[in-house]
Amino acid sequence: MKKFLLSFIILSSSSFLLSSCGKGESKEIVRISHNQSATHPTNIGLIAFEKYIEENLGDKYDVQIFPNELLGSQVNTVELTQTGAINFTVASNAILESFDDIYQVFNLPYLFTSKEHYHTVMDDSSIIDPIFKSTAKSGFEAVAWLDAGTRNFYTVKKPIESPKDLEGLKIRVQQSASNIRMMELFGGSATPMGFGEVYTALQQSVIDGAENNELALTSNKHGEVCKYYSYNMHQMVPDIVIGNLKFLEGLSSNERDIFNQGFQIISKVQREAWGSSVEKAIEQAKEMNVTFIYPDVLAFQEKVLPLHNEVLAGTPKLKPIYDSIQKVGKNLIVEESK
Ligand code: GCU
Repeated sequence: MKKFLLSFIILSSSSFLLSSCGKGESKEIVRISHNQSATHPTNIGLIAFEKYIEENLGDKYDVQIFPNELLGSQVNTVELTQTGAINFTVASNAILESFDDIYQVFNLPYLFTSKEHYHTVMDDSSIIDPIFKSTAKSGFEAVAWLDAGTRNFYTVKKPIESPKDLEGLKIRVQQSASNIRMMELFGGSATPMGFGEVYTALQQSVIDGAENNELALTSNKHGEVCKYYSYNMHQMVPDIVIGNLKFLEGLSSNERDIFNQGFQIISKVQREAWGSSVEKAIEQAKEMNVTFIYPDVLAFQEKVLPLHNEVLAGTPKLKPIYDSIQKVGKNLIVEESK
């Protein structure tokens, strides 16, 4: 809270809006917030963006990256991006559903049948562009997606071998109604909180476990406390880079082209770094004495698949998007069998 107040004070002060670049000229600061560490693939992608923008528009823009929730948790920084206090933030798709319900679709458990399915859908502009533009009324739009791997359960004491093992356990979920409902269907007790609070909550036994990709064990040190990681593979939830709409619309067409190029660079560099980072995280986690468990995924799937129809019934506008996603999956299976 203290951290957030501090950033509020800094951002409210107009003297911080421009950075001096000598001879009385000033550059516009482009602030980007995220909640990962400096060595995480997301930060590596953003550094490549900073370099590209400053190489091409460095006389006008000074890109500044704020990692580690320095400007607040994702929910806070999406709000700061809406108002224009900051220009960009990286937000998990999970929390974006409370800003526009269209984002619920990518929070559905077992939506994607493989990494290839996930990437093909997220790279398909006919599916993604309308979603990315859909939040204009909320003051922001999405400009890129980032890989956040596959989410799995991990726990302090009790290994999760089947959904039954989740009964009675308090499991941290992201602040999203879909995720809370998903945990209910799995049989665990959902405890929503921001990412930065999870380590202490695990350590102090406020929660019994959490769910995330492997990097949470190492980059966020959750593996120091949690010794069991179960590959039940319930979600592939992308991270989404969102930008303040007024800022984006205020760019000249040449600047916008350069920024668009920069957004593609974030995705490309982040994705290249992702695969090896996960492999490294698994090795490091083993050294931290984390045991990896491979349960029967079908048993987990059965529990939560009813959520698909529940969400589609509640938000009918998702149906055509959902159908397109299914179609991409089926086409990939047909291709493979040829
Ligand atoms: C992943 C994801 C983050 C998200 C976090 C979480 O690390 O990349 O964007 O905030 O999960 O569980 O909150």
